[in-house]
Amino acid sequence: MTVCDYKPGLEGIPATQSAISHVDGKQGVLEYRGIRVEELAHQSTFLESAYLLIWGGLPTKQALEDFEHEIRNHRRLKYRIRDMMKCFPEGGHPMDALQACAAALGLFYSKRALNDPLYIQKAVVRLLAKIPTMVAAFQLMRQGNDPVRPRDDLDYAANFLYMLNEQEPDPLAARIFDICLTLHAEHTINASTFSAMVTASTLTDPYAVIASAVGTLAGPLHGGANEEVIAMLEAIGSVDNVRPFVDDCVKHKKKIMGFGHRVYKVKDPRAKILQKLAEQLFEKFGGDEYYDIALELEQVVTERLGDKGVYPNVDFYSGLVYRRLGIPTDLFTPVFAIARVAGWLAHWKEQIKANRIFRPTQIYTGSHGQKYVPLAERPQIWDRSLANGHDQ
Ligand code: ACO
Repeated sequence: MTVCDYKPGLEGIPATQSAISHVDGKQGVLEYRGIRVEELAHQSTFLESAYLLIWGGLPTKQALEDFEHEIRNHRRLKYRIRDMMKCFPEGGHPMDALQACAAALGLFYSKRALNDPLYIQKAVVRLLAKIPTMVAAFQLMRQGNDPVRPRDDLDYAANFLYMLNEQEPDPLAARIFDICLTLHAEHTINASTFSAMVTASTLTDPYAVIASAVGTLAGPLHGGANEEVIAMLEAIGSVDNVRPFVDDCVKHKKKIMGFGHRVYKVKDPRAKILQKLAEQLFEKFGGDEYYDIALELEQVVTERLGDKGVYPNVDFYSGLVYRRLGIPTDLFTPVFAIARVAGWLAHWKEQIKANRIFRPTQIYTGSHGQKYVPLAERPQIWDRSLANGHDQ
């Protein structure tokens, strides 16, 4: 391999063959198993889309009912997981709490039988069922309250909002939240999915796979951007400040959160749907002070950076939807994770079915043939320039 072959961030390098989802970044198309995400958003539910992604086809009525039933039966957390969560610092980020909880599942369900279809099915059900309960439980526990028990009579989205807010959600709010989950369920080989696949390729347990993906999703260049969008809109403060803000970002090459994407060079199809959902919510429950700022920002960024293919991504409008649903800002990324578990699990299954451990190569840029200098003979005043490229 030559230096020319090296692509920072592996841009454009195929890392796998996959039949799970497809993105056409020029046309702004996203498909799950060949079905456009717009169709799924309008006609399907999150759990049906999760089934489609994970098991490879749309379920029969019976199969879907069985899947939903199993998930309802596994929503509760073991009391020892709840006890463990009580020890988490309330000031900690919910993504860190979620990562720890997902990893802890591996302690409680420690049998590993990757060749057993029943084991795979149980792991899929447990993770889809318990992750929302963990997110809601941490939210209540960090406020000093007991977690709310899941309600078997509520569907997936409504139950999460119920556990979070301790009251049954409005049906429109629950339906919109379910659509948000569908829109975030899968997105080809993004950073967190890639990290799930790398972890899966060692044939470790699925809980470690999901924990590693959660950790990767947390960063501000990935799932964490949705939180940053709200902080940015708050900092901009008014429509009049938008243009100077964008000018400053462009001048100093600062990234504007919620814009740009490695694959999409047009407006993300999910952003279009989320914007409409936000408008539906504002119509029913009242507007959001940041929406006008967001609209102006989209217009100015499009003017200034549209020629580079920088348009709103999925994170730009999702935060406004979540705010209106009463979800605290630092839960936006955990909510993203609740949805993306479906895609991670689909890739986990696909990976272990035709596995080869990930072991890429590197282009070594260090030195060779250096002599070991005994400690007593080394200069005793530390000089960074003598560090010979060692990471400090
Ligand atoms: N604000 C301003 N300029 C941008 C932005 C942005 N958000 N995104 C890209 N650009 C510019 C870059 O400065 C670069 O300009 P240049 O060619 O003059 O140097 C050009 O567009 C290409 O951008 P790259 O950084 O090379 O694009 P890359 O594919 O590496 O990055 C990324 C994609 C990380 C998502 C980037 O757009 C970004 O940091 N966006 C903000 C964070 C964000 O919203 N992340 C969520 C992504 S969606 C998700 O993960 C769920």
